[in-house]
Amino acid sequence: MFRLSSFPMIRRASGPAVVLAAALTGSLGLTACGQGAEGSGTGAAEAPKPPALTETEKAALLTSLPAPYDQADLENGRRAFARCRSCHTITPGGPNMTGPNLYGVFGSEAGARDKYSYSHALRTADFTWDAETLDHWLQNPRTFLPGNKMSFAGLPDATDRRDVIAFLKVETGFKPTGE
Ligand code: HEC
Repeated sequence: MFRLSSFPMIRRASGPAVVLAAALTGSLGLTACGQGAEGSGTGAAEAPKPPALTETEKAALLTSLPAPYDQADLENGRRAFARCRSCHTITPGGPNMTGPNLYGVFGSEAGARDKYSYSHALRTADFTWDAETLDHWLQNPRTFLPGNKMSFAGLPDATDRRDVIAFLKVETGFKPTGE
């Protein structure tokens, strides 16, 4: 009789310990989940390559660009880009050549592409590529950033620069922010 009545007492006494153990396991479990989520975030770099835009999507993106780029002539931009092609690829995951691959260049930190050996000047430069910085760079790479190693005289014609910048926006995965 005595033993039987003491049994529930023991169970009750062990109650808080079980709850505590469960709480500890729970918090450990959460930590593990958090790390798991971070891990899959870095894995996103290996996501499948984005599909190229259709001609209609390119035309729509062009008209959504801020002036003067919405007025750009993409065909002239393509012709102007012929002067960059010997050194740069623009396809997603394309190889670095004399110069780095330029896919996704807009909005990216200057001199920060993986697996490309930049000059000290560009690697340590602290700015982000946008239409304005690219316009200055292409006008005269040497004066824009002394010490860089892009041996290119520049595109002196403002219309060519406008057109090649719009061409690059359309071809290198630029996404308007919608603001
Ligand atoms: C003779 C080869 C050559 C030509 C032609 C050339 N580039 Fe480059 N480009 C380079 C090199 C080399 C670098 C890296 C410079 C450095 O590290 O200082 C570079 C860097 C760049 C960068 C910076 C990329 C980054 O990751 O920060 C951009 C943008 C760029 N070039 C655009 C162009 C465009 C647009 C044209 C054509 C109008 C062009 N380049 C023509 C060789 C070239």
